[in-house]
Amino acid sequence: MSSHSQFHEISSHYLTCHAVMETYSMGLMRNIPNAHPVYKLLRPHVRYTMAINRKARESLINATGILARTFSVGADGELEVFKRCGTAYSVHWSNIKHNTEERGVDDASKLPHYYYRDDGYRVWDAIESYVTEIIDMFYVNDASVSEDEELQSFANDVHFNGFPAYGGSLGHEFPSSIATKAELVQICTLVMFTGSAQHAAVNFGQYTYYSFVPNAPFVLHKPPPTRKGKLKFKDLMDSLPDKEETLATNVLVSLLSGYSPDEIYLGAYPPEQFVEERAKQAVKELDVKLKQIYEMIKKRNEGLDVPYIYMSPKNIPNSITI
Ligand SMILES: [Fe+2]
Repeated sequence: MSSHSQFHEISSHYLTCHAVMETYSMGLMRNIPNAHPVYKLLRPHVRYTMAINRKARESLINATGILARTFSVGADGELEVFKRCGTAYSVHWSNIKHNTEERGVDDASKLPHYYYRDDGYRVWDAIESYVTEIIDMFYVNDASVSEDEELQSFANDVHFNGFPAYGGSLGHEFPSSIATKAELVQICTLVMFTGSAQHAAVNFGQYTYYSFVPNAPFVLHKPPPTRKGKLKFKDLMDSLPDKEETLATNVLVSLLSGYSPDEIYLGAYPPEQFVEERAKQAVKELDVKLKQIYEMIKKRNEGLDVPYIYMSPKNIPNSITI
């Protein structure tokens, strides 16, 4: 479980949520003007992301940062995990349907009670139908997408500069141009889902999961045993994090699992986001769907010993702020 904690924090959390959303944020801000419908659609989902990432780079994930000092992999290992996971990353891995299919865990009849998938699919569908409505409103046909120079510039920038293919990259699969409305809907849904629900799923359970350090310690001081029955209690204690490391872990995961006091939750947008009546109606419909999902999850969780709360819409911020 210690190796799992390294992979989770470096890859699943920082790399494929924080860093990926910064890429979209940069692409959006330097290619698409703020009156553009795609800018208006996506801007709330990159709020504060660059700022929190800068703070993370200053204190958490650099050669002398907290991760380098408190994780088993150390500074060099941290960099190596970033390199390997970055090279292997495809944006489709952030699509929960694609991801669960690839991992063979998409079938609820074969794997019931997998609430990350069940709740995540519902949230994905709600976001997708909202995005479809907005894109339908502003783009009359596929040509209006392919001829949108600002949009194409965004795709090109993210493709070549945001996810540069270096060191044997397997292909991040973000397109260099967007040809159809359907493709645009998928990209916008992916960006919104990654910055909201996917990040919430990997972020807000950190205290629950890591604060009891033997559950998944960030550091182990001895290699795992190779033979059964030989380990003494002292060996276990010598391997687990010491008091100082335990304190550092708890402070870190407590901080990272908290919501910002001015958090804006999924589907809440400023009134000026869209002025068009049809778009306002689409926002209302999204709100209704998210409330239905919230009620369904709340009811389901009442019957569970361990409720799954991380994909409940009221626990999903619009963007990565922590
Ligand atoms: Fe986070």
